[in-house]
Amino acid sequence: MSLQGKLALVTGSGRGIGKAIALKLASQGINIIVNYFRHRESAEQTAKDVESLGVKADVIKANVGDPDKIDEMFDMIGNKFGCLDILINNAASGVGRPVADIDVKAWEWTMDINARALLLCAQRATKLMEGRGGKIVSISSLGSRFVLPNYTIVGVSKAALEALTRYLAIELAPQNICVNTVAASAVETEALKFYFKEGLAKDSRQLTPAGRMVVPEDVANVVAFLCSEEAFMIRGQTIIVDGGTSVGLFALAGK
Ligand SMILES: NC(=O)c1ccc[n+]([C@@H]2O[C@H](COP(=O)([O-])OP(=O)(O)OC[C@H]3O[C@@H](n4cnc5c(N)ncnc54)[C@H](OP(=O)(O)O)[C@@H]3O)[C@@H](O)[C@H]2O)c1
Repeated sequence: MSLQGKLALVTGSGRGIGKAIALKLASQGINIIVNYFRHRESAEQTAKDVESLGVKADVIKANVGDPDKIDEMFDMIGNKFGCLDILINNAASGVGRPVADIDVKAWEWTMDINARALLLCAQRATKLMEGRGGKIVSISSLGSRFVLPNYTIVGVSKAALEALTRYLAIELAPQNICVNTVAASAVETEALKFYFKEGLAKDSRQLTPAGRMVVPEDVANVVAFLCSEEAFMIRGQTIIVDGGTSVGLFALAGK
């Protein structure tokens, strides 16, 4: 089945991995709703780049950590389009701190944006997918299962995201909605510079069995596959895109 003419909402698609996903889906004929929080210019640039691929783009500002803003965003989508085919839950934020310094504010900020947003967006998106089926794909990281320095809250939020993916996949299967997650190792984006110093990027390049770091397009390619009918029987999974890093960890540690 062709994806031509379908409609996808990609949260946090003004830059980074979200932008690469928006462009990949657009290249397959999918119209894109670009969601952003703080950087309007980047979001508008993504929309222009999407349109240059011959599909339509809309831009909606919404903090996905705020339930009211999520409602406003889906009200806008419902009023304008009356439907939605694909939800990409990509937006993320987080506070990078050692465990001893984590406070309630940092915990709630991170969990609300990274994990609760999937629940609330999926609840609204499924109403717009009623009678037509759909795809929901989230973006996670290896920090959901491996311990990274100062990554505690984000890692826990990603673990919740992956667990929620499994529950949604089962509950939404009767509505013909496929739910999955893509988890990447370190990807060269602004977020990487924020959480880690250049050292991690350098180590990642050296330690990735595939011989280079993951780039946003590697993640976008897998997301696009999960949105295709070829992936119909993949449900509730977290697909790892890491160039072999996670399966090679023990071997590398022994070197
Ligand atoms: N980079 C990595 O190494 C890596 C590795 C594994 C997984 N990931 C995951 O991949 C996804 C994208 O990461 P990235 O590296 O592309 O991040 P990024 O470059 O920091 O971009 C983050 C995006 O999320 C948006 N965003 C942040 N908070 C938001 C909020 N409250 N509401 C709506 N949008 C919000 C930002 O919008 P504004 O620009 O408008 O603020 C931006 O578009 C995330 O889920 C991340 O956890 C990243």
